[in-house]
This record gives sequence, structure tokens and C-alpha cells, in this order.
Amino acid sequence: MSDGILIAKGTDDLELVPQMANRHGLIAGATGTGKTVTLQTMAEGFSRIGVPVFMADVKGDLAGMSQSGGNNPKIAERAKQLGLTLNPQAVPVVFWDIFRQQGHPARATVSEMGPLLLSRMLDLNDTQESVLTLVFKIADDNGLVLLDMKDLRAMLQHVGDTADQFQTEYGHISAASIGTIQLNLLALEQQGGDDLFGEPALDLSDLMQTAGHGNGVVNILAADKLVGAPQVYATFLLWLLSELFEQLPEIGDPPKPKLVFFFDEAHLLFTDCPKPVLDKIEQVVRLVRSKGIGVYFVTQNPLDVPDAVLGQLSNRVQHALRAFTPRDQKAVKAAAETFRSNPRLNTAEVITQLAVGEALISLLDETGTPGEVQRGFIVPPASRVGAITSEERQRIIQNSVLFGHYEKSVDRESAYERLKGRAESASPSRNAQPSPASQGPSPVPQQPSPEKPRSSWTDSIGSVLGQLGGGGRREGMAEALAKSAARAIGSQVGRQIVRGVLGGILGGSTSRRRY
Ligand SMILES: Nc1ncnc2c1ncn2[C@@H]1O[C@H](COP(=O)(O)OP(=O)(O)OP(=O)(O)O)[C@@H](O)[C@H]1O
Ligand SMILES: [Mg+2]
Repeated sequence: MSDGILIAKGTDDLELVPQMANRHGLIAGATGTGKTVTLQTMAEGFSRIGVPVFMADVKGDLAGMSQSGGNNPKIAERAKQLGLTLNPQAVPVVFWDIFRQQGHPARATVSEMGPLLLSRMLDLNDTQESVLTLVFKIADDNGLVLLDMKDLRAMLQHVGDTADQFQTEYGHISAASIGTIQLNLLALEQQGGDDLFGEPALDLSDLMQTAGHGNGVVNILAADKLVGAPQVYATFLLWLLSELFEQLPEIGDPPKPKLVFFFDEAHLLFTDCPKPVLDKIEQVVRLVRSKGIGVYFVTQNPLDVPDAVLGQLSNRVQHALRAFTPRDQKAVKAAAETFRSNPRLNTAEVITQLAVGEALISLLDETGTPGEVQRGFIVPPASRVGAITSEERQRIIQNSVLFGHYEKSVDRESAYERLKGRAESASPSRNAQPSPASQGPSPVPQQPSPEKPRSSWTDSIGSVLGQLGGGGRREGMAEALAKSAARAIGSQVGRQIVRGVLGGILGGSTSRRRY
């Protein structure tokens, strides 16, 4: 077997079979037992055979992959012990950061995120979620595009202010629900949610690149700050996974994966996860496989992962677990039982005795059969184990082919500008610069004057919406064009929401790009 990815050495060489790598995997073990290094070794192996990788860097210790290794005494010692010569080598890395500091900005639009995931991010209950879904639908029906937080805020305000107008068409919209959504939105913004939404949104094809020598690019999302907002962290990764699912074509079992996705601190995804979202996760994980995406969960204890998901994780690396308390012992026993047993190995006993960087491993063979569990030492990575300096990071970011594309946010006309611009054009006494996005033949006032009540611009929205629906006022060419464009966008979003309800996995809109 020569084209496998060497993961570990035990009695045999333990290799991950590329055509089985989309059957997902699990890296588990107590803190400090070697999970991150194992992830690094796997990611290096994937990159080497041309498979791009996406991972979140929770502690900043995966960033070292971007530098060549060899300077870590523990790693050198392990290489020697295994009779391997280390060839220090960096991996082609692209850094991403939602907070826009430690990598290229990673953004999504509000409409791509969709009401279900956004509700999870905002911690909404069922009633509030259905109100948020309605807000999306009203935006959609009226050609109002939701890109960033201020679009969503403006839309919520508008629906809140004019709820009675929507009553006949959409049913009752509770002011209390709108209020809660607004409050939670504010909390999300304080966690940096503002940065997450907007354009240019992350283009998935940018994650699926190969670099020189055909090596797969390893995308590293800075997550040290992000895990401080677990809902945002988990939901963003879930969104990414569901986007991959929605956008990639069905390919069955490819000779090697199109992309491998490592989900570190995976318990964050599952803790307090509402049943409908859990069902979706299970579904996405199951279906994304035939799109050539391998998902590897990394967590302390396999029991952190619900059975329905755990059962789908076929390539497993189990590092040491502690067995101090009866509860620990139960977890050890359960973890041991998830392996195909090996008569020469007492799995439950060995789990508690493993050294750092040593693991119990079971991988799928070429036929898709789980191998007997074996004990082995993880092969040390060739790239640096540990953190990098901010100079090193900046150099990588600035030398990336992507540098410049995501750095500047683009604020094209969307719900906020439309609602605002139209309302103000209805109050012609304003005096300000024309907005570049406005479509009226004459300059449209932009700034409401201080004495005007805040919600004034939303008051006139009924008439705006009437016009968008084709109310028979005379209009200039530019205005007519803009309106028909808005209608086109609106109906596109409409299709997406319908698809989200009927067949899509998570209700976000994703038909933006094709592969
Ligand atoms: N395969 C290995 N070979 C040699 N040393 C290793 C290996 N794996 C881990 N180590 C050593 O153990 C240290 C801790 O490993 P690692 O960071 O991978 O643990 P972890 O399980 O990810 O911990 P945490 O749960 O705290 O994130 C490494 O910095 C390294 O020094
Ligand atoms: Mg770790």
C-alpha cells in the first residue's frame, strides 16, 4: 500500500486510504494527549496528496503549519524513535479570520446564513424563529436584499413598525418577538457579529485550491477569539459545511476527497443544540460525504458527539482518556466499545495507558471495512508544531494570492439603503449629499434631520413597497431598471427560501455560485 497517508506506526504502518477519507473521522483524547498534533499530521498528509483542508485554530497552535518544522525536541525524539527522518517542510496555508485581523476576512451574507442558523446564533425560541423567518420572507417578497447586520436591523425595525400592515398577508407578528430578536442581535454584534456579515462573502472555491507542486491548501480559521462566542463559532462552521453540501455536485466516492474539514472543539457544536439543528447536522454530515467532503471531529471524549453522528465517523484516532472517577471509567468503556475489537488488545485498558502522541487507531480499508483497532505512535509532522509570530502571519497573509480581495468590504445597495433612501425621498425637506446607490433622477436626501423621529423613514415604506410591486406611478428609466433588478433579486431570493423549505438543508440561500 503506497498511496495511503501514513498516520501512525504500530506493529504495522497505519495508513489512511484516500478513497475512504470522505467516510469521516474522529480524533479524541484528554487534554494534552496529542490531538492537535494528530490533526496536523493528517492535514499535512492530505495537503501532500493534493487535498485542500479547512480547519479552525482554537489555540493558535495550528498556525505553525505555515512554517517548516524540525525545531521541536519532542517531535525530533519521536521521529528518531520511529526510525523516520524528518524533512522539515512548511505547508501552503491560507489564514482566515472573521474578526479580520489574523487572516483574510471570512464573511457570509445574512441571506446565505438563513433564518434557521441565524436563530441558533441568536439563541431564539420557536416563536421568535418563526418571526425571523417571516422577516426574511417579507424582505424577499419585496426585493429587499439582506447582506449585513444593518440590513437585518433595518428590516426588523421596519417590520416591527409596520406589523399591522403585514397582518393580513403574513399573520400576526409579535412586537415582543421582534424586540427580543433585536436585543439578541445587539448581543451578537457585541460579540463581533457585525464582522461576520457582509460582502464579499467567502467564496467556497477559494477554499479548494492547490498550491505549488499540486499540494492542497490548508485553510486555517483563527478561532482563538471565536470560541469565546461558541454559538457563533459552531454556527459559522455548520453554515460552511452546509454551503459545501449545497454547492458541490454529487460525486459518490472519489479517489480522494475534494476537501477535508476538521471540526475542533466539536462539543461546542452539540452542547445545548436544539433537536431540529441536531437533525440537520446529522443529515449534512451523512450527505456531504457523496460530495467528496470528509469531516473530522476533534474532541476530548467521543461521547461528546451524539450517536447518530458518531456512528458515521469511520476513521478513528483515540488518544488517552483518564479514568479517575466512575464517570470517567464509564466513558472509557463506551469509547472502547465503539472500536472493532482486536483479540490481542484490551481496548478499555489500553486507552488509559497511552503515552502522549500514542493512540488507538482504526481506519477503513479499501473495501470500506473498519480495520481492527491497533495501537500506534502518530507520525510527527514536518511543519512546525506550535504558534507563529505575528510577523510570520502577516507575511503569509500578504503573500497570499487572495490578498486584497476580501480585505475591503463592499457595501452595495441592499435592504438598509433601500428602506432608508426611499423613506427619505418621501420627505423632500432633507438636505444632504446624493447617495451613489439611489436611483431617483434627482439627488435623494440622505441624512434625516435630528428633529425628525427616528422611525420616520420607515413610515413611508408602505408606499415604497407598493411601488416595488408595480403601483402605477410614472417613473424614470433608471428607476424602472433599478426596480426590475430588485424584483429579479427578490424572486431569486424567493426561490432560495422555497428551496430551503422544500429540499435545502438549512434554509439559507446558496445559489450564488456554481461548480
Ligand atoms: N505525535 C507526537 N509526537 C511527539 N510529541 C507529541 C505528539 N503529539 C503531541 N506531542 C507533544 O504533546 C504536546 C501536546 O499535544 P497537543 O497539543 O496535540 O495536545 P491536545 O490533545 O491537542 O491538547 P488540548 O486538548 O489541550 O488541545 C505537543 O506540543 C507536543 O509537545
Ligand atoms: Mg489541541
